[in-house]
Amino acid sequence: MDITKILAEMTLEEKAGLCSGGDFWHTKGVPRLGIPPMMMSDGPHGLRKQEEAGDHMGVNDSIEAVCFPAGCATAASFDCDLVEQMGRILGQECQAEDIGVLLGPAVNIKRSPLCGRNFEYYSEDPLVAGEMAASFIRGVQSQQVGTSLKHFYANNQEHRRMSTSAQMDARTAREIYLPAFEKAVQEAKPWTVMCAYNKINGVYAAENRTALTDILRSEWGFDGYVVSDWGAVNDRVPDLEAGMDLEMPSSFGMRDAEIVEAVRSGRLSEEALDTAVRRILTIVDRYMAGRQPDTVFDRDADHESARDIAAQCMVLLKNEAQILPLDRTVPVAFIGAFAEKPRFQGGGSSHIHAHKVESALEMAQAAGYPVRYAKGYETQDDVVREAMIQEAVEAAKAAEVAVVFAGLPDTFESEGYDRTHMRMPACQNALIEAVAAANPRTVVVLHGGAPMEMPWIDRVQGLLMAYLGGQAVGGATVQILYGDVNPSGHLAETFPRRLEDNPSYLSFPGEGDVSAYREGIYVGYRYYQKKKIPVLFPFGHGLSYTTFSMDKLRTDKSAYQAGECVTVTVDVTNIGDRAGKEVVQLYVLPQTQSDQVQRPVSELRAFTKIALAPGETKTATFSLPARAFSYYSQQKGRFVVASGSYTLACGDSCEHLMAETSVEMAGETMQPEQVTLDTTFGDLLAIPGARELVTPYLSLMADDSEADAMGESTAGMMEAMIRYMPLRNLLAFTGGKVTAEQCQVLLESIRALCG
Ligand code: GLC
Repeated sequence: MDITKILAEMTLEEKAGLCSGGDFWHTKGVPRLGIPPMMMSDGPHGLRKQEEAGDHMGVNDSIEAVCFPAGCATAASFDCDLVEQMGRILGQECQAEDIGVLLGPAVNIKRSPLCGRNFEYYSEDPLVAGEMAASFIRGVQSQQVGTSLKHFYANNQEHRRMSTSAQMDARTAREIYLPAFEKAVQEAKPWTVMCAYNKINGVYAAENRTALTDILRSEWGFDGYVVSDWGAVNDRVPDLEAGMDLEMPSSFGMRDAEIVEAVRSGRLSEEALDTAVRRILTIVDRYMAGRQPDTVFDRDADHESARDIAAQCMVLLKNEAQILPLDRTVPVAFIGAFAEKPRFQGGGSSHIHAHKVESALEMAQAAGYPVRYAKGYETQDDVVREAMIQEAVEAAKAAEVAVVFAGLPDTFESEGYDRTHMRMPACQNALIEAVAAANPRTVVVLHGGAPMEMPWIDRVQGLLMAYLGGQAVGGATVQILYGDVNPSGHLAETFPRRLEDNPSYLSFPGEGDVSAYREGIYVGYRYYQKKKIPVLFPFGHGLSYTTFSMDKLRTDKSAYQAGECVTVTVDVTNIGDRAGKEVVQLYVLPQTQSDQVQRPVSELRAFTKIALAPGETKTATFSLPARAFSYYSQQKGRFVVASGSYTLACGDSCEHLMAETSVEMAGETMQPEQVTLDTTFGDLLAIPGARELVTPYLSLMADDSEADAMGESTAGMMEAMIRYMPLRNLLAFTGGKVTAEQCQVLLESIRALCG
């Protein structure tokens, strides 16, 4: 497609028309100029392709497709290669179904465990979310199909999502809510980005020039098109000027006319319109150039892949007395409706018409395992039915082990609304308690997209978080339970003990249309660690049927200049008796305190997943860029590495660090942006070379009697007392010994030191 030539031939109406969908799912075609329509479709973990009536909430039908594990599950794999492979498969499916852009990945940070859409998102940690997103994008786009990184940005709740304003300071945005998008854009180059419904600090994401142009394009280099979330356009012309190129779904010419009128009246330059049209044409052309119409969508093969992926995502949270893996010769009770009909996906725009679903019960029976089933509860309501519990208790008593399949029913979490609590259904809690009382050798398998409160946790021996593992979750669960697959998932989010413990509890989901992110950067483990709040299961936690050690953590040097990469290596050994995979997590813990900035206790700065045979040792190597040691300085408007000492620690959760070392970073001293008479002595003394200039004046601030009264500790106490005094106090507290001129000379001398 010669885009320049086509642009020159397009009428104003055709250009304006291209900036809005042709229908619910396609871009507009311009047959006269050979521009075809291109289909976009959800996403993210399967094809929700609608050939009839389109909708954005998963209400209307869609084609039979394969439902893969949702983001909550794939992130728990901590396996970038696995997620990339899943992306490749989805990209092939898109080619087979002529879909040019798959609407995903969804990378919004899990600010609160209550967000109804957390099942679709990856993590509370920006690094995990960014790495997963980049891997997914690379996979899909390797098949010459585009992705749509969403929802940009700060769409962290469903409550009033189309009107609320996410209010946060620059540091919170830069350290928590932007980095996943930044990494994905810079490392994987998504063809498109989807803007969020919500406002950010009072400005709709669709109209937010700072986000869509200054940050996304000018700073990060994004070169695709921005598509609105479906129905997110608030005011078409300002949105287009802000960098929001394509309105979806179609507004059937209404907003096209607004654009035409704006250009005609001079309110909108035709150049700005051409920029948006060029971006859209570039992506359509890229898709057409890579078109592979003969690709086959092999649903059964992809179903098998979905099972393999799910088995790598599940997280073994508890395994007392090594109750797992199960002995396949002993009678086991499978209890709970989810054993027969698993909850494997969430509600809303990501809801896939799964071409088949396999349950744990059928897969265990097919394998010939001696399992007996009891339903235990109904899923359409939350009623404790004693007869069903009694039946389950009988089954548990007759079994060697009781496995209860439970979790969140469809109605408890979905796109479109948030949870108001973290409880599981009362009927399920009652069932688990009764079964565990009847047979202490009880295991619980949980389906759900987010943390749940578990009042029974101390009365069960095993706990497997299956998350929303896609249509083949049943087979994957059985593989894990019976040990065909060694579990290797780790939590990409904290499971708090109580809802009230979570950092956003006091401000989520906001008041009216203001959602104040008062917890700032202290999201997830960053908060629980800082406040020393015990949690149910910590970020990064995940057990295996074997055990691993990590030691000899070392760096290439012990001291670094700002900007230098730090090479870190650690030896990981499988000290157990069966093969397994370990997720090696590398955290950075700033050690040098400063009153200029508060830092989290630790931050995950790298991770990798390593397969190890029994007794095998491998060395994991990481390269930490300066950003891994940085925080975002609101005063400087950029990331800063503060000089000082940093501990590097590796472990298999944020709370279980097995090896550590420390390094010195010669970063930036935290000196004040500008030095004036109002600058405090504490800040002045932090400027290299300033102490020699300032100290002679400090002694003038305590006369002899005061000095005598304070005794030998005068100097230390003096400095502590004047630390927060401004320089101008030399005039007020030296009894006239220091003149205004002397004060000015001192000020100039110190400014000279700052360069
Ligand atoms: C929905 C979702 C978005 C989805 C789009 C199309 O409202 O927010 O993730 O891709 O509309 O269904």
